[in-house]
Amino acid sequence: MSFSQSSGESVIPPALPRHVAVIMDGNGRWAQKRLLSRIFGHEKGAEAVRAVVRTCRELGIPFLTLYAFSTENWQRPQMEIDALMGLLRRFVDAEGAELIEKNIRLKVIGTIERLPADLQASLRRLMGDTAANSALQLNLALSYGGRDEITRAARAIARRVQAGTLNPESITEETLADHLDTRGIPDPDILIRTGGEMRISNFLLWQAAYAEIFVTPTLWPDFGRESLLRVFEEFQQRERRFGRV
Ligand code: FPP
Repeated sequence: MSFSQSSGESVIPPALPRHVAVIMDGNGRWAQKRLLSRIFGHEKGAEAVRAVVRTCRELGIPFLTLYAFSTENWQRPQMEIDALMGLLRRFVDAEGAELIEKNIRLKVIGTIERLPADLQASLRRLMGDTAANSALQLNLALSYGGRDEITRAARAIARRVQAGTLNPESITEETLADHLDTRGIPDPDILIRTGGEMRISNFLLWQAAYAEIFVTPTLWPDFGRESLLRVFEEFQQRERRFGRV
């Protein structure tokens, strides 16, 4: 990243994103290219997660959201689902202490209730233990789908209307945003997708309305600090107009 300026000028660091969201795709292809099982690709993918979390914290990015398991991923072979749940258990066990020590807050978005009970319990414990941390908020999207999230928000709002505590005419975009799993979190500035597919895949459908989209052919296990810094450099070149001229 080029923060350097000619001598004498005041150095104003170029804008970094406040919230980075990532569709971590390509673990399976990474493994298949090496004639390895897809599960090995997910294991390498977990290493890339560590590298990206560390880099975001180091740069002072306040929010990072990783799409680790979608509502659609429940349709994968049971063996692959079990392996992914195992990796998440290992992530919580092995990285929990580092999250606490490095002042990183963990939050899960999605229907955590669908995860195995022991994993739910350890995620909830770690969310509690890191609740006051402030260097970086790591949002793990688990059993997450944008449509599912919006549907749950609609139900919650409908219940308030039914109870007589909310007038339908007073519902605004803010009301909806406040009933999403991401309430209180700014919308992502950047949506990165690795693995080259040009799709949103049901990720942060509401929140990504104005996100700058970066699709890279790099497969997720090969994505790390350098790739992330390149995306940030490109982000700094883009002009964001939010629908204005
Ligand atoms: C997509 O690759 C990736 C996933 C469905 C899971 C992402 C999980 C990890 C990166 C590891 C565990 C996460 C944490 C937070 C420790 P794919 O299998 O769809 O790849 P393909 O498109 O090449 O088949």
